[in-house]
Amino acid sequence: MAQVMEGKTLAEKIKAEVKAEVRRLQAESGQVPKLVGILVGENKASEIYLRTKEKTAQSLGIVSEIRRFPQSLSQEELIDQLRILNEAPEIDGLLVQLPLPPKFETNRVIEAISPEKDVDGFHPLNLGRLFMNEEGLRPCTPAGIIELLKFYGVSLEGQEVVIIGRSLIVGKPLAAMFINENSTVTICHSRTRNLAGIASRADILVAAMGRPAYVQPELVKEGAVVVDVGINYVSEASFIEKIFGDDPKKRQDLQEKGYTIVGDVHPAAREKASFYTPVPGGVGPLTVAMLMQNTLLAFKRRRQLG
Ligand code: GUN
Repeated sequence: MAQVMEGKTLAEKIKAEVKAEVRRLQAESGQVPKLVGILVGENKASEIYLRTKEKTAQSLGIVSEIRRFPQSLSQEELIDQLRILNEAPEIDGLLVQLPLPPKFETNRVIEAISPEKDVDGFHPLNLGRLFMNEEGLRPCTPAGIIELLKFYGVSLEGQEVVIIGRSLIVGKPLAAMFINENSTVTICHSRTRNLAGIASRADILVAAMGRPAYVQPELVKEGAVVVDVGINYVSEASFIEKIFGDDPKKRQDLQEKGYTIVGDVHPAAREKASFYTPVPGGVGPLTVAMLMQNTLLAFKRRRQLG
């Protein structure tokens, strides 16, 4: 019987630790961390994610705000804004919610964030440090995946890991983290030949390509650990019924919200796993918890607090 790796328990534990540390440092120094999230244009999912980040930060004693800019903002104007926020002494953490509207060059924008405030861990300096296995601000979703696997006692050393998806946000940094844990790592993507042959070798299979229910049972080795990073908004009832049958929760979502969230792993594929992460409630809660941990780390480093 496959065991569920739910993310909420560990996320709550991490957040409680951050909260206690924020309180201790405030008592000692009179200072509190501040996190600023930037949203450019209108994107419903981004709005939800950023509000969750803001609310979570505030619940831990971290000062937090969202800066919203219209789609008409130019890249130069956005970079100018980032320069101002980089210089603001009271701001410890700075993130630009992705994806940006298509006219922006995401890499140029990320490079404009001060590495010491880059709580997403996407700046080239922080990614470079990760590849060098140095301490630093680590991308949140991959860091959360590693923490969740450790929490459930999954051993990483010497394991064959296959990651499907090569994004800057998940696939690439996660590969570096697994290498740092002495795993053997393969990244697959849309141009990979024989994806099923490679994926089905994996002791640990990570699905992070953003395609609903893409990972079918034939991609999963019996007893593998399956991590589902997909958050896909699906509104077609026929697609949901084909995948989940008559699932009351999914039906209720479709009726009430007009969509339901589906991971990258087909439910039938989970049955072959020894452990799997659900969607929602698996990897998701860890991402925000790790962001809070990064914000605390940036605060302590910038202000030289111990
Ligand atoms: N979009 C999806 N995931 C992330 C993330 O971790 N950080 C940012 N900034 N945008 C995202």
